[in-house]
Amino acid sequence: MATLSAFVAPFHESTATFKDDIFKGKVLFCTGGGSGICRGMTEAIMKHGAKATIVGRNLERLNKAAEELSASTGQKCLPAQADVRQPKTLQDAVQKTIEAFGRIDFVICGAAGNFLAPISGLSENAFRTVIEIDTLGTYNTLKATIPHVRKTKGAYIHISATLHYRGTPFQAHVSAAKAAVDALSTVIAVEEGPHGVRSNVLAPGAISGTEGMDRLSAKGPDAGNRDMLYPLGRPGIIGDVANAGVFLFSPAATYISGQVFAVDGAQEHLRSLVIPYPLSVLEPKKIQDMIKGKL
Ligand code: COA
Repeated sequence: MATLSAFVAPFHESTATFKDDIFKGKVLFCTGGGSGICRGMTEAIMKHGAKATIVGRNLERLNKAAEELSASTGQKCLPAQADVRQPKTLQDAVQKTIEAFGRIDFVICGAAGNFLAPISGLSENAFRTVIEIDTLGTYNTLKATIPHVRKTKGAYIHISATLHYRGTPFQAHVSAAKAAVDALSTVIAVEEGPHGVRSNVLAPGAISGTEGMDRLSAKGPDAGNRDMLYPLGRPGIIGDVANAGVFLFSPAATYISGQVFAVDGAQEHLRSLVIPYPLSVLEPKKIQDMIKGKL
């Protein structure tokens, strides 16, 4: 089996597939752009000529990310503090973007919350929190940006997941939220298509080096054997998702809308074969121990 390091390469090496300036003059608005895959997508899109606004709750993290993104791409990056659950803060972020850059061409609805919890340990507030960040946050982002994206005949990428296509234990909240995100994207594709707007879903599998992977992967003595879970011999890297994002916004995808793109190296198709026992029958205490790596 090939080792993970044999596959890992900075994403910009593989995005050399695309011409440098395909996004020259374009503007990206990305929620959740301060870290993880959304930051990686933003960097890849900026490297191809776009300016960007990154939106998040933590201003310190956003400021640092915006500085680093500008330095690595040579493009302007605006940090805009907003909570996607608060429509007014998102509207302000959009306004700032229009004042700074004059337009919005591309939107990534990426802000998300996640943690592992069996439904028996999931309070109503915990369930609602994730629905509000992922689903309501996507709705709020759409409402704030659609008038501008119509003007540029732009495009949306909604960040979803693959875990709700089958039952995934400890993910009731996220599964419900992401199923709704998929549905929203499809409706936008159909409703906004006549205005020249495209909308697709990008559904990452396990992506190494992200907070999501860190939070969601059970840690334990068998952690080193996980490569067997990956048909391509490795988990995804941020560059894999970034490449897919560049493609979906690029002129090469002009006639692609209303689709779900899994970027998971076929993990989802293998998953049902390799989970050795029904995790959901474990005692909640055992589940928490497993999540913390004690089992
Ligand atoms: N298990 C069970 N419930 C949990 C939990 C866990 N691991 N983590 C949070 N909750 C519950 C809280 O107890 C609270 O419910 P309660 O009021 O009934 O006690 C509810 O969820 C809200 O939590 P709170 O921390 O107040 O909300 P928040 O808005 O500050 O943050 C998240 C919630 C989900 C956004 C937070 O966990 C987070 O910041 N995650 C990082 C983002 C992330 O996961 N990114 C990767 C996405 S793949």
